[in-house]
Amino acid sequence: MSQPLLDAIVESAEGNATLRIRPASASDVEILSIYFTSLSTTSRNKRFMGARADFAMIAAECVAKTSNPGHFTLLAEIRHEGQGTIIGETRYAYDAAARHGDFAISVADGFQRQGVGLQMMTAMERHASDLGHEMIAAETARVNAEMRGLAKKAGFEDTGLGDWQSVHLAKRLSR
Ligand SMILES: CC(C)(COP(=O)(O)OP(=O)(O)OC[C@H]1O[C@@H](n2cnc3c(N)ncnc32)[C@H](O)[C@@H]1OP(=O)(O)O)[C@@H](O)C(=O)NCCC(=O)NCCS
Repeated sequence: MSQPLLDAIVESAEGNATLRIRPASASDVEILSIYFTSLSTTSRNKRFMGARADFAMIAAECVAKTSNPGHFTLLAEIRHEGQGTIIGETRYAYDAAARHGDFAISVADGFQRQGVGLQMMTAMERHASDLGHEMIAAETARVNAEMRGLAKKAGFEDTGLGDWQSVHLAKRLSR
């Protein structure tokens, strides 16, 4: 799984840049760690549903399970003068007992609201569906309007199983 899954155009400080959504590999640990560190505190806390500081370890975990096809991390990367910069990531893990995939996602603050999140979700769903997975679930804070809006736009529905703090979302994948 090393082919780019999707190419698109986003606006960057240097003008329009080519966005590539591709699977993460072992060589991405450092740039992924830099990406997590560069997120605003607010975005980072939302991504991890709480404060975390061990980003090198988290980045290593994201790519460690790439040998397990039910676990994958997709990266959204822009390239400028031959240099790649990560501007988004989504981590997916299949729960065989629950028979659904779970995911978490983030987009760099300066690139939010340009459709990057939705494109990563689409690429993730397509890949999960290709693996034969039929359902994707996610949990987010009730106050996370961005994630709830993104999930709704991607076709996820509130399962009603959340509580006053969190919302549980799910989507059945079509094959
Ligand atoms: C949630 C997140 C990944 C969305 O990424 P994004 O690239 O900005 O999302 P998109 O541009 O693809 O937006 C798709 C849709 O999501 C909804 N959305 C996105 N940002 C929103 C916001 N701030 N408020 C309300 N709805 C929002 C909208 O419906 C939007 O469609 P529109 O722009 O046509 O109205 C991003 O806000 C983020 O990284 N947040 C911090 C981390 C986080 O909360 N992760 C979720 C928990 S794992």
